[in-house]
Amino acid sequence: MSNLIDGKTQAARLREEIGRQVSRLRQRDLITPGLAVILVGEDPASQVYVRNKATQAREAGMASFEYRLADSVPQSKLLDLIERLNRDPEVHGILVQLPLPPQIDEARVIQAIHPDKDIDGFHPINVGNIATGGHGMVPCTPLGCLMLLKHRLGELSGKRAVVLGRSNIVGKPMASLLLHEHCTVTVAHSRTQDLAALCREADILVAAVGRPGMVKGDWIKPGAAVIDVGINRIEADGCTRLVGDVDFGSASEVAGAITPVPGGVGPMTIACLLLNTLQATCRQYDIPVPDDLVSRAWDDAAAEPV
Ligand code: GUN
Repeated sequence: MSNLIDGKTQAARLREEIGRQVSRLRQRDLITPGLAVILVGEDPASQVYVRNKATQAREAGMASFEYRLADSVPQSKLLDLIERLNRDPEVHGILVQLPLPPQIDEARVIQAIHPDKDIDGFHPINVGNIATGGHGMVPCTPLGCLMLLKHRLGELSGKRAVVLGRSNIVGKPMASLLLHEHCTVTVAHSRTQDLAALCREADILVAAVGRPGMVKGDWIKPGAAVIDVGINRIEADGCTRLVGDVDFGSASEVAGAITPVPGGVGPMTIACLLLNTLQATCRQYDIPVPDDLVSRAWDDAAAEPV
C-alpha cells in the first residue's frame, strides 16, 4: 500500500454520503440544511475558501447563503447579521471566516453565534464540550485529521502523538481529540526546545504551524503517520505554489503514512464542515444522524494498519 493518505478521494466519498443523507432529509422531512457563510474583507485566500465551502454545500444539496461585508464594517453590523441568522429557521449552520479585520473582536463574534449553529465548533460551549469529552460540535480541520488517522491506523490508543501548533482552530482541539482516543499527546509550539527530537518520538505527528516545509524527513520516526495541516502559498519560478508545513519530499521517504498538500487535509476540512452542518440541522429537529455515516462512505476502503 502506498504511504500516501488521499484526503481528496476520502473527502469526495464523504461528501457523496452526506449528499445522500441531505436528499433523504429533503424528501422525507421536507428540511433543507442551510449554511450561512460570512466573509469580511477581501483576503484572496479567504475568498477562495468561502467560495469552495458555498459551492460544495450546494453540490451536497444544501442551501447556501453568502454574506460579504466590507473590510471596514463596524463590529455592531456583523453582530446584527449573526443575530438575524441565529433566528433564521432556514439557516442551520453559521460560519464567519477567520481572520477578521483588527476593529473586530474575534472572540466576541464567535460567542455571538448560537452554539447549536456553530458548525466551526469555536464557541466556548462547544470548546468546553470537546475538552470534557461531551457531544459538542467538533472543529472541522481536526475532525478531518482524526478521521484520516483512524481510517489509516485503526486503533490509536497508546500511540505517542505530537501536535505542532497551539491554535484554537487546530492545535488545541486536535490535542483534545487525540487524548480522547487515548493517545499520549504533546503540544509543541514556537518556544518548545529541541523540536526535532520531540517530533522523532511521535507515532502520529500533526503539523499545524503555518511555516512552509518546516518538518524535515529527519524529524520523523520511521513508519510514523504524518498529517500536514499547513497551507502555505509560496512563490517559486514566477508562480504561486501551495506547500504544507512538512517537507513532503524528504518526509515521505520516512513516514509510514503522510497527507499531501494540496489534496490531504484541505478537502477533508470542507467535507467535515458539511457533516457538521448536516448534524446541526438534524439536532435542531431532533432527527438522528446515522452513527455509521463515515464508515458507510468509506466502507470499501477498510482500514489497514500502516
Ligand atoms: N480560517 C481558517 N480556517 C478556518 C476555519 O476552519 N473556520 C473559519 N471560520 N475560519 C477559518
